[in-house]
Amino acid sequence: MTDKTTQERVLIFDTTLRDGEQSPGATMTHEEKLEIAALLDEMGVDIIEAGFPIASEGDFEAVSAIARQTKNAVICGLARANFKDIDRCWEAVRHARRPRIHTFIGTSPLHRAIPNLDQDQMAELIHETVSHARNLCDDVQWSPMDATRTEHDYLCRVVEIAIKAGATTINIPDTVGYTAPRESAALIRMLKERVPGADTVVFATHCHDDLGMATANALAAVEAGARQIECTINGLGERAGNTALEEVVMALKVRNDIMPFYTNVDTTKIMNISRRVAAVSGFPVQYNKAIVGKNAFAHESGIHQDGMLKNSQTFEIMRPEDVGLSSTSLVLGKHSGRAALRAKLRDLGYELADNQLNDVFVRFKALADRKKEVYDDDLIALMTDQTSEG
Ligand code: KIV
Ligand code: ZN
Repeated sequence: MTDKTTQERVLIFDTTLRDGEQSPGATMTHEEKLEIAALLDEMGVDIIEAGFPIASEGDFEAVSAIARQTKNAVICGLARANFKDIDRCWEAVRHARRPRIHTFIGTSPLHRAIPNLDQDQMAELIHETVSHARNLCDDVQWSPMDATRTEHDYLCRVVEIAIKAGATTINIPDTVGYTAPRESAALIRMLKERVPGADTVVFATHCHDDLGMATANALAAVEAGARQIECTINGLGERAGNTALEEVVMALKVRNDIMPFYTNVDTTKIMNISRRVAAVSGFPVQYNKAIVGKNAFAHESGIHQDGMLKNSQTFEIMRPEDVGLSSTSLVLGKHSGRAALRAKLRDLGYELADNQLNDVFVRFKALADRKKEVYDDDLIALMTDQTSEG
């Protein structure tokens, strides 16, 4: 049970509308973005990254409109490390009750080579751009893109410069999903220990899922001192996607015994927003996706169904109601047993004696061998045949 008086809060920064929308083919319309932003605000997300205002006129308009409509969350826009991007971002987010500018630059050797800046030149640019953003807005987030492949000494140096220039949140991106949990934790711990002024800012973790470790890496960073998780609904995002919001939020809730942190997210709103994001982005959720997949609370095998009918904790570690589902689904198929068939038939209004059930069960198994899933209508048909034959 979460104790909000003694536990530390982890801020949830949702970037579905920025990093999520960057997935090829996931473009959303203006109205769809406004709808998703409203759902994120309602569910208690702390910061909404609403877009990249310099990227297009449409992005600028969407970020401005979200800034105007949002009641609670901080509204953040992304900007590269130049004054034009930062000014445009400010123009869009300034209408928010709580605006934030998020500016970034790639700091790893590979990324420094692209603008062809040496370490000193890049450090100077970071100082100038973060100072400029801070002159416009009290809430400035800075990210060293590809932080997990940046030399530690240089990373410490630039984080210190960003803090001195006025950044209030330092985000540590694992841009290419390269890190692993132990390393993710060690990086945050190292920065907090070595960088002067580290205790005056919030450290954030921003992970990608290229090796399937985004959730584990984000949680490891939190255990090491990060207090903001950047994530997206359904893990939508470039390539293999970002840390999934529903996974980190539910992990912190379900395993609060070993990760004593809490978030402000109303988890009962998860299923609805997951379905809306899948619909508007055109990216369906895989059936076995943690928390929000169609099968996340479904059971077909006889042993599991029997256990679930006796005590739901036998095969479920969270209640479907906690994520906004009305109930567990016991799917009838060839692996199902008599107990589940009896329970399903009872739901449909058929109360059977043991010998009748045995008979129906034989016919049900024959049908299940031919079909992947046996639906209510199939059972009703079976029962109708049974009655007319009997
Ligand atoms: O993955 C990344 O590095 C990003 C930055 C812009 C924060 O999305
Ligand atoms: Zn990213």
